[in-house]
Amino acid sequence: MKKLFAVLGNPIGQSMSPQMHNDLFAYYNIDAHYHPLLVKVESLADAVKGLKAIGASGFNVTVPHKSSIIPLLDEIDPLAREIGAVNTVVNQDGKLIGYNTDGPGFLKGLNRLLPEIKGKNILIIGAGGATRAIYFTLAKAGAKNIDIYNRTAARAQELINSCSFPVISNAVSMERAEGSLDQYDLIIQTTLIGMFPNTGEKPLDLEGVKSGCVVCDIIYNPLETMFLHNAKKKGLPIQNGIDMFVFQGAIAFEKWTGIFPDTDRMKKNVLKQLGGTIC
Ligand code: ATR
Repeated sequence: MKKLFAVLGNPIGQSMSPQMHNDLFAYYNIDAHYHPLLVKVESLADAVKGLKAIGASGFNVTVPHKSSIIPLLDEIDPLAREIGAVNTVVNQDGKLIGYNTDGPGFLKGLNRLLPEIKGKNILIIGAGGATRAIYFTLAKAGAKNIDIYNRTAARAQELINSCSFPVISNAVSMERAEGSLDQYDLIIQTTLIGMFPNTGEKPLDLEGVKSGCVVCDIIYNPLETMFLHNAKKKGLPIQNGIDMFVFQGAIAFEKWTGIFPDTDRMKKNVLKQLGGTIC
């Protein structure tokens, strides 16, 4: 019987996951289909119950359900529990198990530019939901120091206080971040700054950044934000948000099927959906 997969969110029409996963199911000859499902906040519990009742094999969860789904599941993976957000659910013999593949997806996507996180000095810009997944995953992976610069400093401090993995972290101002750029091996931009239509905005100046520092932006619209453009002009290795998106999907696909899929193929699929070219 055809297996059923889905993504639950609101809005959901913009999701690139259905095309990406359906292409993989066809490529690997798996008899399955992945549906986008528009689920309102007040319908989430019913939707999860329904998916369980009809034996859906697994699903993704996106905005605004990543935290509120937790009490509706049978088991939560420890990292997802720590992050407080689930984006992937596996139906294992009738039990719904929740995982977070956003943070691990970011880390795996970064591997090409930075194979080792242990001992690294990192600056994260932002303190929202996506930041949390990345921050906790990098802390768990053994980063030495992760500073957080956020417009609202109190949110950065809250994030730091809530992390139980051993890492040195400070909530820093923009001035302090800019003044310490020569210390960082990796800088990750996780805010909405520079996202379409505000493509002229950037979170900070990269004057004084260490040569070889890897600069990431989790935005993929545009594919190259002003921040990444400036980093590239300085000759720094850069990565946009496509990798995090593709690798979170690849890890989910592996949890559902046992196959770690061809991420270059996934990247091409996503870029086609975005109407761009590989960068
Ligand atoms: P969440 O991911 O939890 O939904 P969000 O409200 O979408 O959070 O914001 C994500 C991040 O983008 C936050 O770090 C937010 O900064 P604040 O905590 O100060 O709100 C940041 N952000 C959004 N718009 C911004 C802007 N115009 N300038 C600076 N930071 C911004």
